[in-house]
Amino acid sequence: MVTAVFPAAGSSRRMGGGVNKNLMELSGEPILIRTLKTFSQVSRVNFLIVVVAAHEVETVEQLLRGTDGLKPWRVTVGGSERQYSIANGLKLLPDDAEIVLVHDAARPLVTVRTIDGVIDAVKKFGGAIAAVPAKDTIKVVDAQGFVRHTPPRSELVVVQTPQGFRREILLRAYAQATAENFLGTDDSSLVERLGATIRVVNGGYDNIKVTTPEDIQVAETFLRRTSHAATN
Ligand code: CTP
Ligand code: MG
Repeated sequence: MVTAVFPAAGSSRRMGGGVNKNLMELSGEPILIRTLKTFSQVSRVNFLIVVVAAHEVETVEQLLRGTDGLKPWRVTVGGSERQYSIANGLKLLPDDAEIVLVHDAARPLVTVRTIDGVIDAVKKFGGAIAAVPAKDTIKVVDAQGFVRHTPPRSELVVVQTPQGFRREILLRAYAQATAENFLGTDDSSLVERLGATIRVVNGGYDNIKVTTPEDIQVAETFLRRTSHAATN
């Protein structure tokens, strides 16, 4: 069985406005709810763990209680970094969770097809991440802003979520990161340190992370496209 963990405990600094962007509405529905509804449509997903800031636990629990069609869920408290929020969420993993998916609550346009693709790849390879090929040329630069070198674009992907792993691999990666004080910007980077295999799955260019106010408009545009509904 598959449990999905949703970090939603950030400060939404780049969004501005002092509210949790995951509670902002997209086509009349909070971003978090759209995300949870899509995961709830995936038959193999059977439990949802939502991680929010301490002062929002009650509000979010009420919101979820009032939402039909969600798989069983729990809400818990996050930390000062995304990684710490997820580490807290992982403490609530049910015993039957063989596969764990981590998904940014702020990626509400994720599709059932992408989630299924990640689960299939985890079953086969042990780990899988959603990503898209880099469109731009990407350069490695130094701290002073000078170019060091240019990795070949064909070897570069832009990473998204969901990122999924066999339970024991992810738990081992988190335990090691904690022991070594390693702070990564995604879950894969923790698992990579174990030398484990991680498969890349196409997540689609519309699987954006709602980060700045313009992203709300971009997401609304994607949502209006019939092709999005057709692939969802
Ligand atoms: N997140 C979290 N706990 C943190 C930081 C982030 O659970 N300490 C969550 C966010 O709520 C979001 C996801 O991780 O759903 C991706 O993070 P990001 O887009 O960076 O959101 P914020 O950290 O809230 O935004 P910002 O960096 O602009 O402050
Ligand atoms: Mg952040």
